Amino acid sequence: MGACHIQYALLLSLLGFVPCSDSLTCLDGSMVKFGSNLTKEAVDWVEKLTASSDALMVMCQETLVLIDVGEQSVLLWSKGLSKLSGEIKKAQVFSSGPGIVAASYIHFCSTENCNKATSTKVLLDSLSLAASSKLGTLQCPVCLHFKGSCDPKSNLVLCPVNTKCYASSMGIQGGSLSIFLNIFGCLESSRNVLLNNQTSIGVMSVREILEVKSSNSLSHVLVPGTLLTWTLGLSALLSPLCAGISPLC
Ligand SMILES: *[C@@H]1O[C@H](CO)[C@@H](O)[C@H](O)[C@H]1NC(C)=O
Ligand SMILES: *[C@@H]1O[C@H](CO)[C@@H](O)[C@H](O)[C@H]1NC(C)=O
Repeated sequence: MGACHIQYALLLSLLGFVPCSDSLTCLDGSMVKFGSNLTKEAVDWVEKLTASSDALMVMCQETLVLIDVGEQSVLLWSKGLSKLSGEIKKAQVFSSGPGIVAASYIHFCSTENCNKATSTKVLLDSLSLAASSKLGTLQCPVCLHFKGSCDPKSNLVLCPVNTKCYASSMGIQGGSLSIFLNIFGCLESSRNVLLNNQTSIGVMSVREILEVKSSNSLSHVLVPGTLLTWTLGLSALLSPLCAGISPLC
């Protein structure tokens, strides 16, 4: 079972043995699921397809990524073979709210079909969501979908206090998946990026591209009566300027 150590294999083959005839079999597949409440309700997935290792791919892996913007969540889940990278089983919470929630679970192992989680419970069990906090006065667009499907001018919602507007496009590739998302929502004020500048999660490479440098152009602060007119006047003045620069103005 499992992978042969190269020196060991070499030694045995010099002695005339063929030691690596056994290969490792792993569950193999991937899925993308959009839904709501995926941070609260576990999703089940039983994969039956398998793949067998070759000289390079000598471990089984499973990688789950879950992102939730409140009204919408997306789950990415990949199982398959992987290059040797050491056994590891780890859940990582990038953001537990209030606002956007993002977390991952990775498992690399080297026994037959050991990448066998059948429920997102493996991830949800490590996720203690921030208690839902009071709403503030800041409004931000909230949307989570394939890149290009989110209109930054629509679906403005009131954000929880101590959060600010966040907007990115995110490319996630690897483990038989390739997806480009728009992620708009409210993110904890102290943070600028969602995935801590990480460039990979398990077998997936990730690229987070913030849509705007300053979140101010996204914000629509609710202001009392008299100020409102002034604000509307100002934004009318600014909007032709914005139009050419950023779709998010
Ligand atoms: C999601 O959960 C909220 C409350 O937690 C509930 O009001 C809503 O109906 C749920 N949505 C779905 C699609 O289950
Ligand atoms: C991510 O990178 C940016 C730019 O290099 C830096 O300003 C920021 O502090 C980094 N954030 C984290 C969480 O590492």
